[in-house]
Amino acid sequence: MTNITVAGTGYVGLVTGVCLAEVGHSVTCVDNVQDKIDLLNKGISPIYEPQLDELIVKNAQSGKLAFTTDYEVAYSRSDVIFIGVGTPENEDGSANLNFVYTVARQIAENIERDCLVVIKSTVPIGTNDKVEIFIKNHLKNNVKVEVASNPEFLAQGTAVKDTLNASRIVIGVESDFAKGMLTEIYEPFNQPILSMNRRSAEMVKYASNDFLALKISFVNDIANLCEAVGANIEEVTNGMSYDSRIGNKFLNPGIGYGGSCFPKDTKALHWLSEEEGYVLRTVKAAIEVNEKQRFKLIQKARQDFPSFEGLKVAVLGLTFKPGTDDLREAPSIPNVRLLLNQGAIVHAFDPVGVENFKKIYPTQVIYEDNPEKALEGADLCFVFTEWDEIKEINLNIFREKMKTPFIYDGRNCYSLNEAKKAGINYLSIGRPNVIAKRTKEEVL
Ligand code: UDX
Repeated sequence: MTNITVAGTGYVGLVTGVCLAEVGHSVTCVDNVQDKIDLLNKGISPIYEPQLDELIVKNAQSGKLAFTTDYEVAYSRSDVIFIGVGTPENEDGSANLNFVYTVARQIAENIERDCLVVIKSTVPIGTNDKVEIFIKNHLKNNVKVEVASNPEFLAQGTAVKDTLNASRIVIGVESDFAKGMLTEIYEPFNQPILSMNRRSAEMVKYASNDFLALKISFVNDIANLCEAVGANIEEVTNGMSYDSRIGNKFLNPGIGYGGSCFPKDTKALHWLSEEEGYVLRTVKAAIEVNEKQRFKLIQKARQDFPSFEGLKVAVLGLTFKPGTDDLREAPSIPNVRLLLNQGAIVHAFDPVGVENFKKIYPTQVIYEDNPEKALEGADLCFVFTEWDEIKEINLNIFREKMKTPFIYDGRNCYSLNEAKKAGINYLSIGRPNVIAKRTKEEVL
């Protein structure tokens, strides 16, 4: 049997390890954070992700899945090691590969059998080649080692589903040995396996993410223009989506993309291309549009409220998208910071993101456990995430609870007709403004 080890128990590493065990492999997941491993050994996922806890418990109980901090033992017994550690952004936008190289060194110093090292983390083009040389240069034992690329395409909130039912498995290999090994490992998933060279595989990941980011920035750009010329982005994207070459996905306008991938991967590819002497103009534009888009709602609100000093502001939604507790690059963070700096009293609601937001603002923000409480007596309200709990709010609640019902919706959660009927001031992205009455007194 092939012994598989996965380095890193974040979104990529943990979901990979759990799903490989689920299809029948014997997997050990390694992380250097003891608290995470303790939680996992109790059957609890350190990240919020549907289906993950139950699959952890099921596969740990059947003996196919183990968790440890003891990388020396784990690597010494491995035939295949997946690297799924983070590659965060450096100050200059380039990818920080410190975690990848730390693991690469530990692998080099501890493997005792011939081993295939598979890089799942998103890494700049050429990294697989460099890591292979690095490991070979630091080997302690006389074993053969080869590196393969196997980028990850899962989205948070649907990570397990995306992995078990992936649209494709991309493998970047330089030998029949690596191709054979990865094909065997992925055979039980019954998904198309696309084999190519390592640099192409590394590029597929960046190109896919950057294309999606570009799509969102394009829609946001058009949405802003729709506002200026009196068109409605919803009608426009609906009209576009009937062309199967365009499709109907990733056409939702908003206050910009966030999360652990798009912001980082667009900047990393842009940085990498500049290093190579080429300017990736389209990706550069996507980044610029996204950075401006984040403050779109505040700009709108400023036209109605010249100052936020002393105003009660309801914030609905904190996470970068629904279905996750992740706040990485969430538009809520710079917006709440700006509101607090300008003297607003922020009351926030999010179904799962509050604990993480408290790490940034433990006391400055007042956290509410339902939207109604956040809205009670509020002067204005921002919607930053399209959680069902937020989309399902009866619009009359805004009018009844708020002091002045001004709603700035960064995710187009509500219909314009419903907003008109409810008599609220409703400003969304790329759609005509609904202006009812300006004060509670007038509304009543
Ligand atoms: C993304 C990719 O989808 C995934 O394939 C890759 O492996 C990792 O990056 P993720 O970051 O989890 O996954 O989230 P995704 O659902 O793609 O959304 C990213 C951001 O784009 C979110 O902030 C979301 O709100 C925004 N978005 C998405 C839009 O603004 N409009 C859309 O139409 C779609």
